[in-house]
Amino acid sequence: MARRPYIVGNWKMHGTRAMLSEARAIDRAAQRLLKVEVAIAPPYTLIHPIHREAELIAVGAQDCHEAEGGAFTGDISAAMLADAGAQFVILGHSERREGHGESNALVRAKTEAALNAGLKIILCCGENAATRAEGKAVDFVRRQLKASLPASAAELADASDRITIAYEPIWAIGTGNTATLEDIAEKHSAIRALLVDLFGDEQGGDMRILYGGSVKPENAGEILRVADVGGALVGGASLTADSFMGIALAVGEPNES
Ligand code: 13P
Repeated sequence: MARRPYIVGNWKMHGTRAMLSEARAIDRAAQRLLKVEVAIAPPYTLIHPIHREAELIAVGAQDCHEAEGGAFTGDISAAMLADAGAQFVILGHSERREGHGESNALVRAKTEAALNAGLKIILCCGENAATRAEGKAVDFVRRQLKASLPASAAELADASDRITIAYEPIWAIGTGNTATLEDIAEKHSAIRALLVDLFGDEQGGDMRILYGGSVKPENAGEILRVADVGGALVGGASLTADSFMGIALAVGEPNES
């Protein structure tokens, strides 16, 4: 069964309490767009306040630690995120992989920890410009994803309805260089084939694969019409309700009210 498009805002390290008004506006606008599922991942400090106020949109985090607890100064566990009201966590974002040296093995440990804590996950993958130039992007993305998902087949089967994949080519993030529709189609179809391999036809066919990288209201409609694109993970354009909901509107018609 085709699922609703999933439009997720990754606020990255942006947002103080002054941004709560944008979150409120996003939540109100989402109530008129029920054919689209809308969520935001603010910085940790805004998870609980947004969770308390939001009537419809889900709130999530941008990372978690792989351990359940302990002497890890500055870190946050998946259970703490759930306790603060997070329903999901973004894992393996390239800004974590590159900026914080996160390996596939570490991302795998985090996906296992988050799923064990009952959270949904958005697992990111994507090649850099050099890998793309060498023509190795598809192979790289498949290997990266396979090594970042939980290792156990039983764990995978149990969790498929809580796993979303996000394809975010690094060269398209925050650059204004959106991937071409052909690029997106090629990677999403390769990811779909991998999911079907790992999860079987039914579960693997149903999982959503988001595209991320310079998505804006102007290009969201055409990107979301590409086969196997089930939504968007949006950075810069998710920071105001106007542009973020412009993306949601480009994807789903408003309900008749
Ligand atoms: P931009 O939409 O700013 O390119 O960021 C994409 C991204 O990294 C979302 O996770």
